[in-house]
Amino acid sequence: MEELINKVAIVTGAGAGLGRVYALELAKRGARVVVNDLGGAPDGSGKGSKKPADQVVEEIQALGGEAVANHDNVATVAGGEKIVQAALDAFGTVDILINNAGILRDKTFLKMEPENWQAVLDVHLNGAYHVSRPAFGVMKEKGYGRILMTTSAAGLYGNFGQTNYSAAKMGLVGLMNTLKLEGERSNIKVNTIAPVAASRLTKDILPPDFIDKLQPELVAPMALYLVSQQCPVSGNIYNVGMGFLNRAAIVTGPGIVVGDGREMPDPEQLLTQWENLTTLKGAKEYWNATEQIGDVLQAFARPAEDDGGKAQGFESVEAIFDAMPKAFVADAAAGVDVVFQFVISGDGGGDWYSVIKDGSCAVEAGSHEKPGCTLKMTDEDFLNMMNGVLPPMQAYTSGKLKIEGDIMKSQLIEKLFKFKF
Ligand code: NAI
Repeated sequence: MEELINKVAIVTGAGAGLGRVYALELAKRGARVVVNDLGGAPDGSGKGSKKPADQVVEEIQALGGEAVANHDNVATVAGGEKIVQAALDAFGTVDILINNAGILRDKTFLKMEPENWQAVLDVHLNGAYHVSRPAFGVMKEKGYGRILMTTSAAGLYGNFGQTNYSAAKMGLVGLMNTLKLEGERSNIKVNTIAPVAASRLTKDILPPDFIDKLQPELVAPMALYLVSQQCPVSGNIYNVGMGFLNRAAIVTGPGIVVGDGREMPDPEQLLTQWENLTTLKGAKEYWNATEQIGDVLQAFARPAEDDGGKAQGFESVEAIFDAMPKAFVADAAAGVDVVFQFVISGDGGGDWYSVIKDGSCAVEAGSHEKPGCTLKMTDEDFLNMMNGVLPPMQAYTSGKLKIEGDIMKSQLIEKLFKFKF
């Protein structure tokens, strides 16, 4: 994987287990690696030791690779900052961060004392926050970054005796979900791996004849791919163990509408539709929360008003702009001074603009030099929106309508134009 050459990678908890293998494999492919590990016990207790991180650095150097050791604790804000600083000091930047450090303190829930709850959250969830935040700053500035979170089947699906660990591991999925959005424009991709591998954390949990087969080396290719330049995805979760890989995701069922969205329905009304309400048949993934809200709005979208049974609607985008001057409501335009630019893509699209000034409206084909507010849509979506099939708010929240410039002005459009078919 040539594209890892000279990339600067931080791997937390890289003194042993999976992290060690990630660090070695990255370095073998030319990446410069910060090998972080505080060298504590599997439950995070003890004073720590420099040895595990130092040894991995020696291994990398013996192979001709470049690496520096760091012994800070991911569980503190200062520790996270120092880990990122170590990358800046040694190599001048950060391209890759693998949040991998981990401990276990398994107990059934009633025996889960606050300190055991807290310690596990501090290393896994807060640890990823502490290191990712300064790293994200560097990545944003340079317009490139790859972050890998480490979750677990225990978090994704549950595992008896691991409430603390499961909560922390699922928290990392939430962190990824939003970080992927905040990093999107800066080419920062954030993904999550749920590994299964033999290590000191799993040696007492997994069956002995199975554990020999679970080499961490078998997990590393996917981790490397997800932090490589060519990684095609962001916001994805993959289970990886022994060369068996599959994607896990949060999916949402098609849902039902109960009531009219105004009056509170009886709880019993839900029961009559329980199967349809709970089914995951036809389930889908959302890229962000706005898309989900878009579906709520869509569910209550009013169909176009009836005008006595006649078929309604514009048949072409051009017809809409032809009708626009007549649809203009001069009374609603007092004090409004704006140029709306419409950029409609697709075979039936084109560019039009309308100049609204002194209570009048002029519509022209083409592009205006200085539009105040630009609306971009496909011809099909634009027709659907103007024909009342696609509510404007839903078009916007789903990304079908893109607005540039003065977004607030776009909200005037509904008042300024009343189309009659
Ligand atoms: P490991 O115990 O071999 O490696 C974890 C490393 O993290 C250790 O070297 C430890 O010293 C270091 N570490 C712990 N707390 C730290 C801190 N506060 N600051 C810096 N370093 C710290 O464990 P393994 O199995 O390699 O685990 C790696 C990650 O993979 C963990 O996040 C774990 O929860 C996760 N995982 C592992 C699975 C497996 O099958 N091995 C299954 C699911 C998740």
